[in-house]
Amino acid sequence: MKALILSGGKGTRLRPLTYTGAKQLVPVANKPILWYGIEEMVAAGITDIGIVISPETGAEVQAKTGNGERFGAKITYILQSEPAGLAHAGKVALPFLGDSPFLMYLGDNLIQQGDLSYFLQQFTNQQPEALILLRQVDNPSAFGVAKVDDTGRVLELIEKPKNPPSNLALVGVYFFSSVIHHAIANIQPSARGELEITDAIQYLIDEEKPVTACQLEGWWLDTGKKDDLLEANRLILDTYLKSSITGEVDAETNLSGRVQLGKYSQLVNCTIRGPVIIGNNCYLENCFVGPYTSIADNSHLIDTDLEHSVVLEGAKIAGIEKRIIDSVIGQRAKLTVAPRRPRALRFMIGDDCQIELA
Ligand code: G1P
Repeated sequence: MKALILSGGKGTRLRPLTYTGAKQLVPVANKPILWYGIEEMVAAGITDIGIVISPETGAEVQAKTGNGERFGAKITYILQSEPAGLAHAGKVALPFLGDSPFLMYLGDNLIQQGDLSYFLQQFTNQQPEALILLRQVDNPSAFGVAKVDDTGRVLELIEKPKNPPSNLALVGVYFFSSVIHHAIANIQPSARGELEITDAIQYLIDEEKPVTACQLEGWWLDTGKKDDLLEANRLILDTYLKSSITGEVDAETNLSGRVQLGKYSQLVNCTIRGPVIIGNNCYLENCFVGPYTSIADNSHLIDTDLEHSVVLEGAKIAGIEKRIIDSVIGQRAKLTVAPRRPRALRFMIGDDCQIELA
């Protein structure tokens, strides 16, 4: 059994963060989203992993993630030179996959820990040509959607339907036998110009090949948008964060709930209410940090109230009078108060930024 993680795509819904980095490397609880998937695969016993990368962000994904040693896996990188669809990625990866059955996993999806092993076992026991995961959602039009009969048999799959036949979305995690390559070779690009994996699975259904579905009961997040990213951060901190203090905490600082503080980080006169994770080499003075906040390495926060937010590496926040909530602050971003008169708002805002002033 091999795994194929798709880590290309432009990440348009996470701009401006994705102008300078891959969406799969955006951190959730201070760890790249992509790494959660890798760890789940290794935990399920799949260690031969291919990662499909794009020309734009491939080098960064490769540099950060490495050859797999840190995960106990062997990682092969496969370049997809154009964003021509998920099924196209499968085609490009054929030399890596050979005739092995494989797990296909969209690198920006997160599913509840432990679920992958269970579904792999279902795939191994049932031996279908494809096993798909479905989950009930409120906005099926944003996904691939399945029509199933009373017995749970998959009748039809439709990509981003205007009139969804059900609220069962295709989770970005699929199990395939090598027969999928035959299906991929026989489909045409969709209206959006991509070779859709949904169409390839539909091809198998039309050919009356066994395609089974499992419903996901645990949580699933497609982290492609800001609110989903914050929700993923909340869920991961809520479920998995363990207290551990490696850095320095002064006598005036008050910690409650689960708090993780990394090496060489310093807390001076702060109130931290967990779950909160603060990386290495951070400095926080006179701050309140509320639940569900992740602060990445090398960040500097002074006189700041922050809650339910994600701060990326090297950000600086100082002296903001109002509490910052539901926010994602990019790498090396600076959020400070004007040091000179006139006291006014001064911005240097990148393309596609979103700023809400109270
Ligand atoms: C892709 C699939 C879609 C699936 C979704 C899950 O959509 O095409 O069927 O429901 O991932 O994340 P995309 O994210 O490429 O729009």
